[in-house]
Amino acid sequence: MYRAFEWKKNFASYIDQTRLPLEEILIETKDYRVIAEDIKRLALRGAPLIGISAAFAVYLGAVEYKELPDTEFENRFFDVCNHLAATRPTAQNLFWAIDKMRNVFVQNKDEKRSHILSLMEEEAKNILADDIKTCAMIGEFGNEIVPDDAVIITHCNAGLLAVGGIGTALSVIYTAHNSGKKVSVYSDETRPLLQGARLTTWELMKNGIDVTLIPDNTAAFVMQKKRIDLAVVGADRITLNGDAANKIGTYNLAIICGRHNIPFYVAAPLSTFDFSLNSGDEIPIEERAADEVTDFFGKRTAPYGVKVYSPAFDVTPNELITGIITEYGILRKPFDISIRDLLKQINP
Ligand code: MRU
Repeated sequence: MYRAFEWKKNFASYIDQTRLPLEEILIETKDYRVIAEDIKRLALRGAPLIGISAAFAVYLGAVEYKELPDTEFENRFFDVCNHLAATRPTAQNLFWAIDKMRNVFVQNKDEKRSHILSLMEEEAKNILADDIKTCAMIGEFGNEIVPDDAVIITHCNAGLLAVGGIGTALSVIYTAHNSGKKVSVYSDETRPLLQGARLTTWELMKNGIDVTLIPDNTAAFVMQKKRIDLAVVGADRITLNGDAANKIGTYNLAIICGRHNIPFYVAAPLSTFDFSLNSGDEIPIEERAADEVTDFFGKRTAPYGVKVYSPAFDVTPNELITGIITEYGILRKPFDISIRDLLKQINP
């Protein structure tokens, strides 16, 4: 299957997602600054993919400064980590992956430089390889809740363009489809940057899944007039009580699912969970530039001087979530207990 990000021995190779679906432009770079900029401008996006690409960027930064004396190398290395951590504030996977890379350095500081670098490269490769397995497991567990002939609604893009493997929410759909079930999808367009219209429809069509694009504000009407069996979305950060941050508009979708008795599932790997936060109120929410709203892909659509508020994410309160599909199984309510139990099971 198609991969959004590949590590090619000593450089990163990935598709520029800002150009999809009309152009498939590949970016190849050894420069951590290019990767950081591409995360900021959403050429690389989706919580797990942001983490994966940041991990390789940290490694590339360390390679760039490898000839420097110890203290300078260490300072530059931490600067690289901070530079990447400042790209986007909400996706937990970014901080999780940078922490993993930082730990490799801290725990092996006194080793030979070449050894530290090879351990870092190994760690970044493991993050990518683990994500591929994790996506597959999420798909397997998620498939349990998909009936045959299912109609599923999703928001934003939580597919193979957002991860190292085949997706989180869309992995559930791909796995159900591959297991022989008939599945069709409604994809919210996902204003203002249209990840649903540009990316989710593109990848689902490429993989033979029946998909219908709808404007975001059409979802309630579709639920009223047609059959939707369930909603599955991804997440950027999940807190200890099960509140889940995801692309702006996800909360709206969860509310209208509740109104129509449609099960609302979040699919995410454990690397998206922030075990230091008790509730979604504490999640930092990124605000995007005004022109992403006042201009529609290069064409001005709002009056000059208008005030704009453009949060990139919202938080769906746990009570609106039916289950959280992880690589360890489906977490059920009460989430504060099921999340803590899972943590104990993993780290006894
Ligand atoms: O701003 P984006 O495009 O990075 O937002 C992405 C999302 O909100 C996804 O749903 C989320 O990261 C899950 S990706 C598996």
